[in-house]
Amino acid sequence: MAKSIGLDELRLGVCYYPEHWEEALWEDDFKRMTEMNISTIRIGEFAWAIFEPEEGVYDFGLFDRALDAAQRHGLQVIMGTPTATPPAWLTHKYPEVLNASIDGTLYRHGMRRHYNYSSPKYRELCAIITREMAEHFKDHPAIVAWQLDNEFNCETNTFYAEDDHAAFREWLREKYGTLQALNEAWGTVVWSQTYTDWEQVHLPRPTVADSPNPHLALDEKRFISDNTIAFARIQAEILREVSPQHRITTNGLFGHLDSHALTDGLLDYFSYDSYPQFSTIFSGNDDKPLLDRKWSLNLSTVRDISPNFCVMEQQAGPGGWVNRIDMPSPRPGQMRLWTYQSVLHGADLVMYFRWRTATVGTEIYWHGLNDYHNRPNRRVKEAARVGKEFAEIGSRIAGTMYTANVAILRDYDNEWDGELDVWHGPLTAQSVNAWYKQLQYRHIPADVVNVRGGEPDAKLLGRYRVLIYPHAAIMTGQTAELLARYVENGGKVIFGARTGYKDERGHCRMQPFPGPVAELCGITVEDFTLIKGTVKAPKLRWTSESAAEQNVENKSVQAFAESFNDILQIEDSAVEVVAEYAESYYAGSPALTRRKQGAGEAWYYGAAFSEVVVDELIGRLGLESPVRSWLQAPEQVEIGIREGRKGRYVFLLNYGEEAAKIEVSEARIDLLTGEKIEGETEIPAYGVRILEWTT
Ligand code: GLA
Repeated sequence: MAKSIGLDELRLGVCYYPEHWEEALWEDDFKRMTEMNISTIRIGEFAWAIFEPEEGVYDFGLFDRALDAAQRHGLQVIMGTPTATPPAWLTHKYPEVLNASIDGTLYRHGMRRHYNYSSPKYRELCAIITREMAEHFKDHPAIVAWQLDNEFNCETNTFYAEDDHAAFREWLREKYGTLQALNEAWGTVVWSQTYTDWEQVHLPRPTVADSPNPHLALDEKRFISDNTIAFARIQAEILREVSPQHRITTNGLFGHLDSHALTDGLLDYFSYDSYPQFSTIFSGNDDKPLLDRKWSLNLSTVRDISPNFCVMEQQAGPGGWVNRIDMPSPRPGQMRLWTYQSVLHGADLVMYFRWRTATVGTEIYWHGLNDYHNRPNRRVKEAARVGKEFAEIGSRIAGTMYTANVAILRDYDNEWDGELDVWHGPLTAQSVNAWYKQLQYRHIPADVVNVRGGEPDAKLLGRYRVLIYPHAAIMTGQTAELLARYVENGGKVIFGARTGYKDERGHCRMQPFPGPVAELCGITVEDFTLIKGTVKAPKLRWTSESAAEQNVENKSVQAFAESFNDILQIEDSAVEVVAEYAESYYAGSPALTRRKQGAGEAWYYGAAFSEVVVDELIGRLGLESPVRSWLQAPEQVEIGIREGRKGRYVFLLNYGEEAAKIEVSEARIDLLTGEKIEGETEIPAYGVRILEWTT
């Protein structure tokens, strides 16, 4: 059962660092927060050196005073455990707690997140500080929740300290029981990699050509995820025991961590840190990238963990580190737009990072709402506007949920395996990007769903009319069965190239691709080739003209079968060839097929999805915008719906730097302004409208 934050109004918050400022500033800061309808602050997550200035000596005075001041202003507080930043005394005395690079070089004091999760000493010291804090703060009326650590696996998500190697060995013993089973799982028969003693087994270490055994590399990520959760569990259990009245969360979505399992096992709800302006500095090689709107995809993954969640850190200005990160300022209106982007996708508590820009340290250019000078600026005004709006409309929206009838499926094993395996990893990013962009542009809300293969998934998947599972190279029999049942019951599923060629150990199956879904799709892969370098993507030829195809204005745009080509062989007479390769030695062979089965359909596309192909497929799969009968908007506007007992709200978010013209053919009330909207109207640059959709 997915865990949600469970608020009955939208809340605004901000991250605050009392230890960075003169105490004389606190009262005014808190007063101004409440004037802006900021009702929650997050504090404490990096303050270990203040809480425990030397081993076993505790001083909570500064935070007691800050909490009392917050309480006087009616602010609620989320308190962080400070374990992301071990103090200098700690790492100096116990260097075994430090994390190391793959060659064993220790990461020293001076940054943050420089510890490992395996060190028994670090676990012990973290348990002690967590208990001390929990005991000390448990009765403070301002505290409502705890944040565990800060951003597990941010900054680095690999761990190679001595204790990590030892913990990995233990984890493997538990998983495989015998060395023989381990050798088999890792295919060590190849290149004389066979282990004859557990002491020979390690996490990846430097290898020739940086090429670790691929099965080991997959287990490494699974281990890191389990180990992170085991580390977090120690704190969660202490907090549950000592202050059971408080809720528990943690923030951030990072690699090598099953955030679904973390949340299901330990948390009350998940929190995300949303910095859409990263899109301006890392936009990839797409010539028309989604930019900040791409964060809607990240937020969709978060929503799959907690349908209503917290954004613990929402970008509040240009981000910057002294040395590593520099980014442009959000344009006027963009911060507010991003706040509503979070809200559309399910956030009911949004906290800005941070109240005021730090004047010292690595993040002196990571701008908060307030500048160093503390005088009014446009970011503070923009946040105050959001605060006012939340106060007006928040109780109507909180608790409603994003709705979609198409989902993009993902799973951790393929994500982790695909980091090393260049034969499928890069295909997924390409295809998800193509699908997500086209769904966005067509105003078709979409979910992202993590597949685990169990019974709960079956129920969940039944909600969707269409599932897109782009390149599940690792496909278990259990997941294949689940999807077959989904199709039988009326769903449509579409797979892309390289599906099903590996089992969960990452072994290639001695079966024709797509392995466990071959029967469902009614095809096998007869031959295949990577499309790379001088080998160019062949043209596709659609074999039938669908109604959708005739209506597509840009029908003349040629579709190419990009990145990889599975050349398909039809195995079942119910299979229809929807498109074939039009070039290369396999011209005329099937490229895209559809098999009707039960009440549904199984589709297979032998390549990576491009936008042109997706554009065509959307029509053929029968996907449409749920608001098409009464609302027309240009591509630059994201349309999404939150729905629940309280009502149904259509969010229109204009990511463009120009105003967007929309056409509303049935009168609707804009919740934000109370205006009746009918006919042609505009959404200003970076503007937001929330229309109440009553039938
Ligand atoms: C992360 C961290 C914050 C801060 C911001 C900005 O999200 O959790 O402490 O460093 O990034 O860099």
